[in-house]
Amino acid sequence: MDRELAMEVVRVTEAAALACGRWLGRGKKIEADEAATSAMRAMFDSVNMNGTVVIGEGEMDEAPMLYIGEKLGCTQTPEVDVAVDPLEGTNLVAKGYGNAMAVLAISDRGNMLHAPDMYMEKIAVGPRAAGKIHIDDPLEYTLKTLAVVNQKNISDLTVMILERERHNHIIEAVRNAGARVRLFGDGDVSAAINTALDETGIDLYVGTGGAPEGVIAAAALKCLGGEMQARLVPEDDEEVKRCKEMGLSDPRQVLYMDDLVKGDDAIFAATGVTDGELLRGVRYLSNDRAETESIVMRAKTGTTRFIKATHNLPNKPHLVMK
Ligand code: FBP
Repeated sequence: MDRELAMEVVRVTEAAALACGRWLGRGKKIEADEAATSAMRAMFDSVNMNGTVVIGEGEMDEAPMLYIGEKLGCTQTPEVDVAVDPLEGTNLVAKGYGNAMAVLAISDRGNMLHAPDMYMEKIAVGPRAAGKIHIDDPLEYTLKTLAVVNQKNISDLTVMILERERHNHIIEAVRNAGARVRLFGDGDVSAAINTALDETGIDLYVGTGGAPEGVIAAAALKCLGGEMQARLVPEDDEEVKRCKEMGLSDPRQVLYMDDLVKGDDAIFAATGVTDGELLRGVRYLSNDRAETESIVMRAKTGTTRFIKATHNLPNKPHLVMK
């Protein structure tokens, strides 16, 4: 994969964030998602790659753009797979909460798990704990391991958990072990990434969320030297069938880093839509300008770039409210 590609795709997440940031707090998550998706799709036309969407907005018959199998980019090479979430945290934008982002991940062709839209159990840690945890370990044991490798008391560890009833037993287990809990409403890609960035103070992300988000977060953790382990949660025969079609003979098998994102190269890019720990959200400025903050990373080199940009917005933008 071309290293220039990493710099190019930031414009794609920037475009998505600029478009959907306009929908902050308007209570319209579908419109916000549509705005992000169409802006992202349009910007992909100018990217030098031969991309195929493997994780996107849905199957071809259910999504008008960024559907699975759609071709993206304007050149014959490099041949890459693309995972997109034009708006990670649709509810967050609709309600005006923090931590929404526009995200994407890119791998060499055939290297990313084609995760269907179903639930996935996940556990994510930063580089110091990579290789030292297992998704099936009791949480108390994992927390003891984290205390050692992160050189903290268990009582100073912080665990991010998506606030859902299905996670009550996890919340209780973490509390019983004496660690701190940070519940959040939506957006588990950033929760997983936080574990690999010291300044966030987050030691562990654990819980069940979307499988597509799991693969995208795994690409980010690959760049940061962290680790995610996962297990799909098919809820009916149809979902079991989809897992088998993906080549998983056992749909409940543990998915390690290389099962989620194979190989030593992957690109991850994200632009903040609303303010979060990782990125600041879009700021609309005077005179039709706006400011964005993005992160872009490449696994091969481990380089992480934070990019702050000021944009001149078009006068008759695709951002027009309905
Ligand atoms: P959307 O952006 O599609 O709304 O997803 C947000 C999200 O919170 C993900 O980050 C997470 O993986 C998933 O939803 C959790 O699913 P659910 O809301 O069904 O618990």
